[in-house]
Amino acid sequence: MDKNFLAQEIIRLKKEKNAVILAHYYQDDAIQYVADFIGDSLELAKKAQNTNAAIIVFAGVYFMAETAKILNPDKKVIVPDWEAGCSLADGCSPEDFKAFKEKYPDHVVVTYINCSAEIKAMSDLVCTSANAKRVIGSIPADQKIIFAPDQNLGNYLQKETKRDFVLWKGSCVVHEAFSLDKLIEIYTKNPTAKIAAHPESESHILKVAHYIGSTSGIINFIKTDPAAVFIVATEAGILHELSKAVPEKTLIPAPSTEDNSCACSECAFMKMNTLEKLYWCLKNESPEILIQEDLRTKALKPIEKMLALS
Ligand code: 13P
Ligand code: SF4
Repeated sequence: MDKNFLAQEIIRLKKEKNAVILAHYYQDDAIQYVADFIGDSLELAKKAQNTNAAIIVFAGVYFMAETAKILNPDKKVIVPDWEAGCSLADGCSPEDFKAFKEKYPDHVVVTYINCSAEIKAMSDLVCTSANAKRVIGSIPADQKIIFAPDQNLGNYLQKETKRDFVLWKGSCVVHEAFSLDKLIEIYTKNPTAKIAAHPESESHILKVAHYIGSTSGIINFIKTDPAAVFIVATEAGILHELSKAVPEKTLIPAPSTEDNSCACSECAFMKMNTLEKLYWCLKNESPEILIQEDLRTKALKPIEKMLALS
């Protein structure tokens, strides 16, 4: 179907049905164009918490839409493709995590929002990359901590907060694929460039970064820093918002180890969502996210604690 027709129909349907479209920065340009709000995980969770719409259409990955449903049990939360997962969430099963947690009974459990409702329900606190330092800072200094499921974010936070964590060994397939050698090659050719990286990246990438932060943090850094050239070490979808915000700046996507046509990293899960799937999901109000009430109330507690701290 024609993209302009789809976009117009989506805009018409969302008015007719009192629906709001929340989209992550990694979504395709066409999806970002029809979205009512684009943000990082924390901003999207806050928007989901405060919306008056009857239907939330979540264009992101499953755990993000699930978080929206946990916060809004009475609203319909629908997704373009519910197979849009996340390597971090998918790599941390409730059975394995339960066994892991049982080995450290005296530890506070902090989980990155990129995990399932079942893992959130086993957590004391949830965090995103935007508020993780503040969340860790809220835990008494003598308290031992389990951090899951992202070991790269966990390693970064240990250094930043000077705390020791027991780490679950998960990682993001996109952010662990950045090549330090290729990054340095680009930097050598652009010595005035600033490197901005997401903390899901491996420590050798973070070591050379001038700025480390969430997707929104990276956008704000690039908007406000006077440099003219930036090397951006996160998923390539972020370039859509950046090229609108700072058209005068040169943005170079950090290269991944694999040779691919765009020489940049794309999240295959995020890219499962298309404008056409978004149209059908809004038209049919399906697939819908449903969560059992006892699981929802358990998963809600650590999310609410996080939102109260943010
Ligand atoms: P942000 O919260 O920074 O948007 O990150 C979400 C994510 O999945 C990064 O890969
Ligand atoms: Fe998950 Fe990585 Fe994709 Fe973010 S970029 S949704 S962490 S797989």
